Order: sequence, then C-alpha cells, then structure tokens
Amino acid sequence: MREFDFETVIERRGTSCVKWDQTGERFGVKDLFPMWVADMDFKAPEAVIQALRERVEHGIYGYTFHPESCWEAVTGWIADRHGWKVPSADWYAPTPGVVPALATTLLAFTQPGDRVIMQTPVYHPFWWVIESNGRRVSANSLKFDGTRYTLDLEDLERRASDPSAKVLFFCSPHNPSGRVWTREELSAVADICLRHDLLIVSDEIHADIVYAPNRHIPIASLSPEIAGRTLSCMAPSKTFNIAGLASSYAIIPDPVMRARFRGFLHDNLDLSVNLFGIVAMEAAYRHGGPWLDALLEVLSGNIGFADRFMRESIPGMKLVKPEGTYIPFVDCREMGMDPQGLADFLMHKAGVAMNAGTMFGPEGAGFARLNVATPRVLLEEGLGRIARALKA
Ligand SMILES: Cc1ncc(COP(=O)(O)O)c(C=O)c1O
Repeated sequence: MREFDFETVIERRGTSCVKWDQTGERFGVKDLFPMWVADMDFKAPEAVIQALRERVEHGIYGYTFHPESCWEAVTGWIADRHGWKVPSADWYAPTPGVVPALATTLLAFTQPGDRVIMQTPVYHPFWWVIESNGRRVSANSLKFDGTRYTLDLEDLERRASDPSAKVLFFCSPHNPSGRVWTREELSAVADICLRHDLLIVSDEIHADIVYAPNRHIPIASLSPEIAGRTLSCMAPSKTFNIAGLASSYAIIPDPVMRARFRGFLHDNLDLSVNLFGIVAMEAAYRHGGPWLDALLEVLSGNIGFADRFMRESIPGMKLVKPEGTYIPFVDCREMGMDPQGLADFLMHKAGVAMNAGTMFGPEGAGFARLNVATPRVLLEEGLGRIARALKA
C-alpha cells in the first residue's frame, strides 16, 4: 500500500467548499467542472488531522496565541527547506491570511496615492488590495518568450526611480507564471530596491511547492541589508491544503518595521488568530515533510500529464510549464479566440471553470489558469471535456 493517498476522489460537495459548491455562483453558469481556485482536492497530512482531532476533543476554543513550540516548528521548517535561519521568534508576526497581511503593509507603510510595483500578470488580489486602499499599481510586466516568463529589470528600475513608488509587492514563487526566481534574479531585484529605497513585501505563500531542480530562495535571506527592508509573508496553507484555517505569518527582521506592522495588526485585527490554524501549522511543519515530498511527485506527474494531454489532444492549448505552484498558466492564444470567446468556449462548450488570464492583468489575455492539484482521474475528466468540445 502507498503511504499517502493522492488518488482517491473525496467528495467535497456539501462542505461549503468554494471550489465545488460555489463555482456556479462565481462563474454565473451551472454545472461547470471546477479547475480553478488555489486549493487541492487532497486531504491534509494525517499528523495534521490527528493534532486537530486532539484539540477538538478539549472542547474549549477561546482566545489563543502562537506558543513558542509553534514558532520553533516554523523556524525549523524554513531552515531545512529554504536554508534561512530566522534567529528569533520575535521576528514573526501572525496574520490571519496573506492577503490581510498585504493590506496591512499598505496601511502601515504607505500613504494614499503612493505607487506599489508588481510583476504582472499577477495574483489578482494584489490589484484590489492596492486599488481599494487608494494606492496605485505600477505594473512591471513580465516578459514571455512563448515558454517561460522573465523579469523586465530595465522597466523595474525605471518604475522604482519614480518618487511615488514606495513598495514592491513581490510574488515569489510567482503566481500565475509558475516562475521560481533564481538567485541572480532575486539579487537584481533586491539591488534595485536598495538603490531606490523600496520596501519589499515578498509573498512567498507558494515557497514549498517547487519542482526540482528549482529551489525557492527567500529574498530576505540574500543579505542582512535586504532583510532589513523586507517583510516576508509565508503560510502553510497552500503547502498542506489548510487554507480554510486562515493561518499565516510575516517575518520582519527590522525592529522598527516590526513594531509598526504589529501596531496596525493590533489596531485592526486584534486576536483574530485561528486556534485550529495554529495547531495545524505546528503539526504540518513538524511532521509534514514526507507527505509534501510525495505530493510534489504527484503534482509534477500531473503537470507532465496535462502538458502531454494538451499537445496530443487540445490543439492550440499549451501549458506554461511551472517551476513552482500547482496552478500553471495555459497559453490558449493559438486557439484564436478573444478573451470573451475563450471564456465562453471553456464555460459553455467545454463546461469547465478555469480562471481567466485577464483576471491577473491585461497581459493574461489569451491565457487561462489550470489547477492540477487533484486526483489524476479528475484532471483527465476536465481536460477531456475541453478536448471533446474542441473536436465537436
Ligand atoms: C500569491 C498568493 N498570495 C496569497 C494567496 C492567498 O493567501 P491567503 O488565503 O492566506 O490570504 C494566494 C492564494 O492563492 C496566492 O496565490
């Protein structure tokens, strides 16, 4: 018997599940087969489930805090997996999700009208967090050669030199391009931020979903100087499929920045930490390594499968092979449809729900995002629907 089960199809309908229960409402079309949103159709590691069971049994679920043992587990994980030794638990600030952490950084460190640079197309809440808080997006478009995305460093330098640019929202690994930034790329970005005095807010929520030989490097680990201007946002939520437990943290080496960030968290989100999120985070980081290694093999297999399937059976669709993340972009430009035509085809002809590329920025026109973190039979079912619709 295999130690971990990533094959069994688990019924998620009827569990208030965004992916399987809300697709109709979100896409405005009934009975779509969901291949969108960034969570997985796999159970969390057994050690996480067991730790939660034990905590549930206690029966009292009052206000809580992160114990030292939790931060020890986090520190051990980041050191083992990403080679960065966080020297003190004092550097951590718990946050009830990465998106609230991003919003808090804007409130704490910028003024209305300030510009925030980001590499587009990018995770869509970056857009609304900036714009709905009265800050302005400075879009540093990624370059795409038909296979792989890269940074446009000249454009980044130009944008960084604008005095109204105060912050870089850096997505690392990058959603939806699937890029895992190399040490050279990270150093170049960091140098630009140093030269132009930008604060780096590095969203590293996908840090653990990286395929060999690629390696995630926390940008703050490059040097103490970079660490001093960086706020790293991390979480076990994507890694262990516990997004519903709303548990994440920021790592802030600079004491002044840390005090300010904590002050804003206190004033706006005091005590909004999730008891079960803490329990799950500690158990996952202590015991979840072998499970994650097995998961990465399964995801990598699914990526290879989707890539082959498209080449063989879906003319015009090409997977942008990800170095990290389980939500790669699919280049559909050769299908010759405009964004509305592509959305109509996927929903009304194929009957599948995928995130439209344009959600992530105008550069996403002609692309769609695919979630491969599902048992192979479900991935095959979704891709099969697209292939059959195209044939018809
Ligand atoms: C880059 C990125 N940041 C943040 C999030 C969501 O974070 P949270 O659920 O902790 O707010 C996601 C989810 O897909 C993501 O892809």
